Amino acid sequence: MLTKDRIEEVLQFAESQVRRLVENYPDFFPIYTVGGKWFHTGELWTDWTGGFLAGMMWQFYRRTRSPYWREKAVHYSKLLEHRKEDRNVHDLGFIFLNSYLPWYEETGDPALKDVIITAGRTLALRYQPKGKYLCSFIGPHSLFIDIMMNVPIVFYAAIHTGDQQLMDIALNHCRTTRDRLVRPDGSVAHEGLFDVETGQFLRQSTHQGLSAESCWARGLAWSLYGFTKVHAMTGLEEFLEVAERNAQYWILHLPVDKIPYWDFCADLAQPPPWGAQKETSSAAIAASGLLDLARQTKVPEHSVAYRSTALAMLEALTDPQYLAISTPGWEGILKHAVYHTRKNLGVDESVMWGDYFFVEGLTKLALEKEASN
Ligand code: GLY
Repeated sequence: MLTKDRIEEVLQFAESQVRRLVENYPDFFPIYTVGGKWFHTGELWTDWTGGFLAGMMWQFYRRTRSPYWREKAVHYSKLLEHRKEDRNVHDLGFIFLNSYLPWYEETGDPALKDVIITAGRTLALRYQPKGKYLCSFIGPHSLFIDIMMNVPIVFYAAIHTGDQQLMDIALNHCRTTRDRLVRPDGSVAHEGLFDVETGQFLRQSTHQGLSAESCWARGLAWSLYGFTKVHAMTGLEEFLEVAERNAQYWILHLPVDKIPYWDFCADLAQPPPWGAQKETSSAAIAASGLLDLARQTKVPEHSVAYRSTALAMLEALTDPQYLAISTPGWEGILKHAVYHTRKNLGVDESVMWGDYFFVEGLTKLALEKEASN
């Protein structure tokens, strides 16, 4: 059972893993492990995960108020500031909402808020007015489901500047994603392809999932949590409906042990990595998202189902089968995550975002338990 003591024990293990990383490899922002080790020379595909390392430090600081974690969180956040004008990635939400936003929330320093707003404006430059979406790093013809976790920084910039054009960009992006990538049963496609001349939608596609028609587990987790965040920021019920559709697909298709396979359409009779390969990072993302969705849904029975699923997933992740606590020499926190199967990057390894969302989900529980004591 996920008692207060167990949550604290697991978070202290997470702290020790991150402390070892920053002491062994100062100022290094890893993406995935190789054989359980963070430092390697493998390909990044795209540089999108810096905010998760800084983000874990902010999560540790929020819970412990330790000066060590505050100093590290500030230092690692500052190392990301130059990315606020990076036009090569669609990931500025991942980078700044987990680093500069908690820093701003701790201090109220307007200079920190300006960094977030600049990053939001930079992300908005990816907008394709004909197709009405923020394009992925692949090119102007490509829409990724992952961007649902980044569009909140455009909403943030719109809300904090009163810029209606930014607001329209963010709203249009969410509606195009809902209409083109989220299917009626709540499953999602990873990518949508468009004709850049006309803006016409052509077809669904994938890079990291099994196929264009399948449901890549992490893509569904990004959608579930992203639409949940957008509903929280806008209050618009149309986005709550999408998050709940995603949640229902998730809950209906989750294996009995509560940890999804890498793609909900994978043939489980086949061996890993294309068949029965677990993907712990998607469980961590969905669990943290479901904890929020449980508070946002208007339906009490849904709230109970979302929260109990989130708790069951987080508890399953604390089993030594998944948590690296009993694996000497393993440098990540969660084992058995997958970054990119087709490119053979970080398959059955630890990934920085899996560790981050696991820590975020457990910290939400630790702080709510503290508040109710
Ligand atoms: N590129 C985002 C992801 O791997 O989920």
